[in-house]
Amino acid sequence: MGTVPTGIRGLDVLLHGGFPRGSTIVVEGAPGTGKTTLGMQFLYYGALKDREAGIYITFEEFPEQLYRDMLAFEWDLRQLEREGLLRVVGMSPDIFLEQMIEPGGLIESMIRELNCKRIVVDSISLFRYGAASEEEHRRMLYKLRNLLRKLELTSLLVKEREAADEQSGFEAYIADGFMKLSLKPHMDKYRVRMLEILKMRGRRIREGEHVYRLTDNGIRLIPARSMIEDLALLNGRSRVPTGVAALDELLEGGLTRGSVYLLDTNSKANYKYFIASVLANRIRDGEKVMAMLSSFLTPHDLDKMLALQGLSMSGMAEEERIYFIEHYTRPYPPNCEANVLDVSRMNNAEYRNIVEQKITALVSGGGNWFAYYDLNTILAERGKEYIAKYFAADAAGVKALGMTMLVLCNFSEIGPEVSAFLERTSNGVIRTWVDGAYQYMQVTKSPNGVISEPYVVETTTQAPFMRLS
Ligand SMILES: Nc1ncnc2c1ncn2[C@@H]1O[C@H](COP(=O)(O)OP(=O)(O)OP(=O)(O)O)[C@@H](O)[C@H]1O
Ligand SMILES: [Mg+2]
Repeated sequence: MGTVPTGIRGLDVLLHGGFPRGSTIVVEGAPGTGKTTLGMQFLYYGALKDREAGIYITFEEFPEQLYRDMLAFEWDLRQLEREGLLRVVGMSPDIFLEQMIEPGGLIESMIRELNCKRIVVDSISLFRYGAASEEEHRRMLYKLRNLLRKLELTSLLVKEREAADEQSGFEAYIADGFMKLSLKPHMDKYRVRMLEILKMRGRRIREGEHVYRLTDNGIRLIPARSMIEDLALLNGRSRVPTGVAALDELLEGGLTRGSVYLLDTNSKANYKYFIASVLANRIRDGEKVMAMLSSFLTPHDLDKMLALQGLSMSGMAEEERIYFIEHYTRPYPPNCEANVLDVSRMNNAEYRNIVEQKITALVSGGGNWFAYYDLNTILAERGKEYIAKYFAADAAGVKALGMTMLVLCNFSEIGPEVSAFLERTSNGVIRTWVDGAYQYMQVTKSPNGVISEPYVVETTTQAPFMRLS
């Protein structure tokens, strides 16, 4: 398939490199939002950097006007035209369609002559006036989309946003991609330019609206803040597979090392296999684990579950590869005692101090560490206040140590306010819940911007004993 860089800084980041090659993308926006600039920038940088020829079809402006306007960004379109890398063509929508449809027509010959890879049509809104009916209008657009595909062009179709159409029109359905430019009220007295990608076939898209600016060298998009932080995190960090194939694939290899993930479950959901799979995979990868088990997941339970994965908890403890924080003074399998930090009689201040000291000392001893933290236990034993007060600091501390942490929690028990805070504080959120006869699992936040649909959790007979379908 391949990827075509958009020529717009920031936008490529959101699109994981650019537009899917050969796709047709509608760019919709109100007057003056920068549609023409975006289209021309796509062709300009394509020609300049990738030496890919492009054609700009304009129905509204004279090419001369465009050349002049684009000089504001210091884009020398004439030079590219001389090099055979660009054509700016002014024509009427009727003639364009006529010439486009005709095999060997004007457009097709131009495409062949230039070996053209990219095209911008500014704007398709005008087709409506040439069409006898709405139905014919749609048929025309559909035909155009098919022709552009056949010619293997990566195409941007500019569309005016009319105040009336609150919903995206037919264009959004037939196109492979759909982006919206808008001017939004911002903090009462300002307006800010926002770009939103609503659709991009074959690409995971980073949801939400992103600010863009019209600068002296064209459009620059600034990906929303949380994403920049998380992208910095992604750079150069490896992944931590969970052992659940579909999830690891979705997360581009697994959890991002050095980040904090929430696993939100309700009481009916079975999360134990998932936890066991993650921990077993960590151990097998030679990592060290710090685990806090809940009243629902006892040391004995985990021992059994790890045994199903072919691992011995005693053996791992002996090799100093697994440690525990224990709130309930329960018995552990043989040889584990030395690795259990019993915190059941500690008050909150002592607990925080000692756990921090102990973890820092252990982690500083070397190796890659994974922490499994149980917020349900913290909620029961230390209180909601403790979570609200310390979770952000603890998460930051864990990240600073380079540990990856999976945090079990139950949003419905913790309540919406603290849950929202937890969600913001974490790099990723995985949810699993039971609804009727099925259990589901869904990624609702991740450092790489992936948000998944809800998957059904199926039980299997072999490790990891679960599968997402
Ligand atoms: N160097 C620059 N710095 C900042 N803004 C600029 C610069 N040059 C042009 N602009 C602004 O860019 C906008 C024009 O963008 P453009 O023509 O791409 O929008 P458009 O969506 O195609 O508009 P229309 O609907 O009128 O076709 C104008 O609002 C203009 O003021
Ligand atoms: Mg324009």
